[in-house]
Amino acid sequence: MSIHIEHLLVELLNHTPAPDGPTLWIADEALTHAELQAARPRKGLDVLSNRYDLATALRQAGHQVSVSDFDFSSLPCQEYSNIVYRVSKERPLVHHCINQAVRHLCDGGNLHLIGSKDEGIRTHGRNAEQAFATPEHAKKHGDAYHVRLTREAGADTRLLDSKHYDELRTCTVGDFHFLSKPGVFGWNKVDTGSAMLAEQALRLLERRKAAGSVLDLGCGYGYLLLATSTVHFGKRVATDNNAAAVDAARAGFARAHLEVEVTLDDCGEQLQGPFDWILCNPPFHQGFDTSSGLTEKFLQQIRRLLAPQGHALVVVNQFIPIERMAGELFARVDVLCHEHGFKVVQLS
Ligand SMILES: C[S@@+](CC[C@H](N)C(=O)[O-])C[C@H]1O[C@@H](n2cnc3c(N)ncnc32)[C@H](O)[C@@H]1O
Repeated sequence: MSIHIEHLLVELLNHTPAPDGPTLWIADEALTHAELQAARPRKGLDVLSNRYDLATALRQAGHQVSVSDFDFSSLPCQEYSNIVYRVSKERPLVHHCINQAVRHLCDGGNLHLIGSKDEGIRTHGRNAEQAFATPEHAKKHGDAYHVRLTREAGADTRLLDSKHYDELRTCTVGDFHFLSKPGVFGWNKVDTGSAMLAEQALRLLERRKAAGSVLDLGCGYGYLLLATSTVHFGKRVATDNNAAAVDAARAGFARAHLEVEVTLDDCGEQLQGPFDWILCNPPFHQGFDTSSGLTEKFLQQIRRLLAPQGHALVVVNQFIPIERMAGELFARVDVLCHEHGFKVVQLS
């Protein structure tokens, strides 16, 4: 994890340089509790995030936050003096945010891009130069770069190719079709671990006349419920922390005529169980970092939401000691398969 980047981000937010005026923070990062606490809320600082957990924590700390899949349409145009953005992982999303910054900054206002070389900050800076039609000012701070671009009155600004970031698109893998978009986990692919999990679920459930209720915890674009749509579940619920994933899943289920309640939530905390089945491919990475604490959080929620006679099928990277972690919470942990670097376990 790169401490310098988060430190720089918080510094910029707390002491945004001139010109004075409203600031927008485009928040697409995983921040630690300490960094969250350090970013001081103030009048004139708006936050736009696509993550429910980050938005909730920031709201609790007193920030003014809107949550969406980086939909800027409700924000004022040509009004912000500064926009602060730690670059996202997906290039189309970075281009979308740079394009929106051109629209939403006032004349003389600055876009501040933060990131490391590995995250492509140098390329993003050069591309932003084209969008703003002004030169970038790049400064290195430890392992982080701060790139500043100024919106100049009358500049011949140009939109970057965001590959229609805000639109869902039909993706095809073999004979499986689904709706998705950049910004969603493995957005145009089928994850190998998820495919293994779906195969195990179908093996256990497909011939049953009634399979009760099912929850997909961390649903992404909805692969697990789409791939198990032939199972006779009485109730289906899917939830994710990422607004883009929730939008894609909702649209994908509607297109497949599959009735699913879809919620934006942090690890299903707002959900009431119990569920007879829980399917879960928990996140291994959060933002740019790896987090094993998240696996524990997911396991705790699975335990809370699972019916007493219920079963959870969970797939994890083979290096995660899920047998030990889940062993403390569940009576049984059975490894159903272990291949291609993944393990599918059944918890009951
Ligand atoms: C490995 S992906 C699996 C996605 C999907 N189930 C699939 O099989 O393609 C993990 C998902 O968990 C979501 N996620 C990450 N943190 C979360 C949280 N705190 N609460 C709910 N979902 C979260 C991510 O947005 C991502 O969609």
